[in-house]
Amino acid sequence: MKFEPGSGLTTTEAPFIEDAVAHGNIYIDQPYELYSEANHEAWRKLFARMQPRWEKYANEHFMRGIENLALDPNAVPRLEEVNQFLNPLTGFKAKAVSGYVPAFQFFDSLRNREFPTTITIRRADKLDYLPEPDIFHDIAGHVPMHTDKAFADTLVRFGEAAHTAAEIAQSIRDEDERAHKIANIIKAMARFFWFTIEFGLMRGMNGETKVYGSGLLSSFGEIEYCIESSDVQRYPVQLEWVVNQYFEIDKYQPLLFIVDSFDHLFSLVDELERWMKEGKLDNVAPGEPLVNEEDLKSFLQAAK
Ligand SMILES: [Fe+2]
Repeated sequence: MKFEPGSGLTTTEAPFIEDAVAHGNIYIDQPYELYSEANHEAWRKLFARMQPRWEKYANEHFMRGIENLALDPNAVPRLEEVNQFLNPLTGFKAKAVSGYVPAFQFFDSLRNREFPTTITIRRADKLDYLPEPDIFHDIAGHVPMHTDKAFADTLVRFGEAAHTAAEIAQSIRDEDERAHKIANIIKAMARFFWFTIEFGLMRGMNGETKVYGSGLLSSFGEIEYCIESSDVQRYPVQLEWVVNQYFEIDKYQPLLFIVDSFDHLFSLVDELERWMKEGKLDNVAPGEPLVNEEDLKSFLQAAK
């Protein structure tokens, strides 16, 4: 299929992406020439309004990451160029995807230091909320964190834990028991990922609280709200709480958890994996996130 240059890669309207999805292509190229002027304008606006808030609320590792990636504030980034800066630092690479990646494949990519990256961008006249990730969330929110060695190692460790989960599931003979156990383990992992990688807070140098979660780092409203609002509960992270805590994706988060450092975060992933092996994640509290069939299957059919 032919696509007009400049026809746009907008989240709600991208024939190129629809075509890739229809053909079952998860991993794709970034067809840079398709970005429209409105797409670049959306990036420009998002980046410009975020900058002062990053300076105020983001953790120092993120700020160093933004600098190291040399992102152009005026144009949607080319993944290839981002990777030229990122890859030598931690071995990580942003890899373009057409959309949803089943849970196991997503975590397994992290293990291989590849980050599945959305290439569409939200509409320039609707910058605030969107339920799905876009390139601003993925490249400006996630990727700067991947320039930090301890953080990058934590993501890899998380991918290894996903392998452990798949092995546990595949070793169970009884079908119902297997489905029950893996659904609970995936739920626990998704909650952990949500409250750390996506919405984590960190204790800063002078005791102040800083943001490192990418969902917060890419949200103009919530990055301020999560630190300033008295409606937000912020507690030192506790694994037993995180894996049992449900969340809603379409509201500002009322409850957030604080880690001391990325070494601390890394040790929590170790602990998560240990709990998995001990059976402590087999019956977590019910509720969000729901684990869909495809995510279940991705773990049950994962190659060893
Ligand atoms: Fe994300």
